[in-house]
Amino acid sequence: MTTQRVTIGPPPTTQHSTGASPPDVETGPVPARGPLVDKYGRVHRDLRLSVTDRCSLRCTYCMPEAGVPWLARDTMMTTPEMLRLARIAVSLGIDEIRLTGGEPLLRRDLVDVVAGLAAIDPAPEISMTTNGVGLAKVAGALVEAGLTRVNVSIDTLKRETFIELSKRDRLKDTLAGIEAAAEAGLAPIKLNTVLMRGINDVEATDLLGFALEHDYQLRFIEQMPLDAQHQWDRSQMITGAEIMARLQTVYELTPMPDDTRGSAPAELFLVDGGPATVGVIASVTMPFCGTCDRVRLTADGQVRNCLFATGETNLRDPLRAGASDDELAALFCASIGAKLPGHGINEPGFLQPPRPMSAIGG
Ligand code: 5AD
Ligand code: SF4
Repeated sequence: MTTQRVTIGPPPTTQHSTGASPPDVETGPVPARGPLVDKYGRVHRDLRLSVTDRCSLRCTYCMPEAGVPWLARDTMMTTPEMLRLARIAVSLGIDEIRLTGGEPLLRRDLVDVVAGLAAIDPAPEISMTTNGVGLAKVAGALVEAGLTRVNVSIDTLKRETFIELSKRDRLKDTLAGIEAAAEAGLAPIKLNTVLMRGINDVEATDLLGFALEHDYQLRFIEQMPLDAQHQWDRSQMITGAEIMARLQTVYELTPMPDDTRGSAPAELFLVDGGPATVGVIASVTMPFCGTCDRVRLTADGQVRNCLFATGETNLRDPLRAGASDDELAALFCASIGAKLPGHGINEPGFLQPPRPMSAIGG
């Protein structure tokens, strides 16, 4: 096996992707080191890779209109650093990498990141969660680079509500992004919706109608305590049960057999007998931690073994100090080894993690 040494490049610049070959990172098949298994037997195969904490929107359930203190540039991983850690993650059995943010499209060299991930041998499946703003321009290039699936967040079909919810007048951009993703061949297109009481809760059935019309797969997500403002209020949350009740005023929902769910967070329902489905992700009222196979790597190189973890494992500093791949892999494993059985949101002593969703990755 021939390998080249990693070149640590400069921090991400404002340069746009050149469309050239992937950045200079170690090549050749990854050695097998896995699996990433925790104390409860959960095998981790899904890496959520946050490529930036910046965002083009200000969704109220995530951050205030003024934004949040962004990560300092020099603390953020360069693309070669990110690709090296992704390669180590693949050696540990990760077979799906989901790009998240903030808004991943704000990373200027995102196409290079995708190309670099796709060049890992064996190549992981590469997907992305995005708010869709700006996707229309790059969907084709991302697919060419190796992106295979996309989840687009869309909480409303009304311009005024979009502005109220995200503090930006970008509904058209999100809709154009979804359309471009479909045209670029990304299928199925999944849509994510968070319902907020008194803002967009009345749109549940309209959003499902929109998804059915275009053959997109819609999933409703219960609002979780991950907002930077720490204003989450359980009594205001639209629960999975309420989401279903709203949908059932218009549609007939039939549960899919449980064995199709696996480690997926969404409980799927056939709509009007199928084949179309709708998903309900009831992270708070019906936690699915027991089958969790996800691990997160933040844009500043910290492994988080849970969305709600209060501790993190720093991979960036050891990497910059010259740690070997085996040493970094051991840190990754130690993080998974310390994973708790559940998120604890429903327990009395629950503490919201200090990082908001935008700096963790969905
Ligand atoms: N609760 C539930 N979902 C959230 N998202 C962002 N913040 C929250 C929250 N507090 C969603 C986004 C996106 C995905 C990454 O997570 O809408 O679809
Ligand atoms: Fe941005 Fe996503 Fe947070 Fe909305 S939820 S502000 S799109 S990071």
